[in-house]
Amino acid sequence: MSIKIVMKIMQYNFDEIIDRKGTSCVKWDIRDIYFGDDSVLPMWVADMDFKTPDFIVNAIKDRADHPVFGYTVRPDSYYQSMIDWIHNLHQWKINKDWIVFSPGIVPAVNMAVMAYTRPGDKIIVQPPVYFPFFSAVKDNGRQLVYNQLLLKNGRYEMDFEDLEKQIDHRTRMIIISNPHNPGGSAWTKDELEQLGNICIKHNLVLISDEIHSDLAIPPFKHTVAANISEAIAKVTVTMMAPSKTFNLAGMASSSVIISDPGLRNDFEIMLGRVHVGMGNLFGMVASEAAYTHGKIWLKEMLHYVKENLDYMESYIQERIPKVKMIRPEATYLVWLDFRSLNLDPAALKKFVIEKAGLGLNDGPVFGPGGEGFQRMNVACPRSYVQEAMQRLEEAVNNLA
Ligand SMILES: Cc1ncc(COP(=O)(O)O)c(C=O)c1O
Repeated sequence: MSIKIVMKIMQYNFDEIIDRKGTSCVKWDIRDIYFGDDSVLPMWVADMDFKTPDFIVNAIKDRADHPVFGYTVRPDSYYQSMIDWIHNLHQWKINKDWIVFSPGIVPAVNMAVMAYTRPGDKIIVQPPVYFPFFSAVKDNGRQLVYNQLLLKNGRYEMDFEDLEKQIDHRTRMIIISNPHNPGGSAWTKDELEQLGNICIKHNLVLISDEIHSDLAIPPFKHTVAANISEAIAKVTVTMMAPSKTFNLAGMASSSVIISDPGLRNDFEIMLGRVHVGMGNLFGMVASEAAYTHGKIWLKEMLHYVKENLDYMESYIQERIPKVKMIRPEATYLVWLDFRSLNLDPAALKKFVIEKAGLGLNDGPVFGPGGEGFQRMNVACPRSYVQEAMQRLEEAVNNLA
């Protein structure tokens, strides 16, 4: 079946250009601050340029029609929508009382660090990785320990031998991005099982940030770490949200799912201390609408992103072979390898902004192993990806 026919039967139009400028949005409106240039094509922060689907917008409008927005509780239907979504998508059966609210995943990671570890304890992260993990460790006075990921045949893999070497009597926790940002690995059951068993053996808490879990690109599948075995579930804190899946980051509504009562209690105490459990009324409404009605939209969105990746992969292979694309198994984030251009990190950053006119995430920010890389977000209309490829090709050609 040709791409054209598939597109015809799609319900949603992801080609549509939505002008986001002037909406106080991070991606477009702070380009001058972040890149020193407000004309770069912004393909950075993990935020989509697609229109929020009507079933979410209408749910928000319906609630806004009632003109009182006071303190609010989350109804059973909110929890049920999440329980059903997670069961349908990930075959993980969760109970309502395992679900703890958090306004965001980064606050949740910080709360987990405070709840389960003490100042001076060691926490392991696997770079290159989502950089707020580093600050969650360091800003809370814990010691940051790296277990470097290995790039093997275009896929990031965990180094279990090194991991065991990094663990000592002060180590309390491992924080992972599952699936992996920025490398795009959809960690397999085997990988997560090995990791989980190491956590059990050394009495470590596994923080599994699964914010990108709904974004495995077929045929790849997401594996919920806590769903592998009872024993792994007992040491695992899972973090999920509709914010990446449906582009609801501005709604500040996420969940921390903890089956072990002891771990859950410690987290809830911390949440109570910082007092952010109330949440946001519209976030709650948006989340329930997304989880109730979002299946088809998600399927089509992932199909569109997959075609963006296909386009980009062949363009780069055919016309910009000096740049290597790490094709993601999950997420809409592409980790681009510029190492063969032989530019030092500062020169590469300058090249991408000034010569290619692109606003990407700079590799070194993701920690060791990020040097020579840039992260590009392709959850956007295809015309942006086409424009980005042309700009990159021209800039790389002009280097030679
Ligand atoms: C792995 C990962 N965790 C967390 C977040 C952000 O979470 P939040 O906005 O809910 O704090 C992101 C956003 O890009 C992410 O990639």
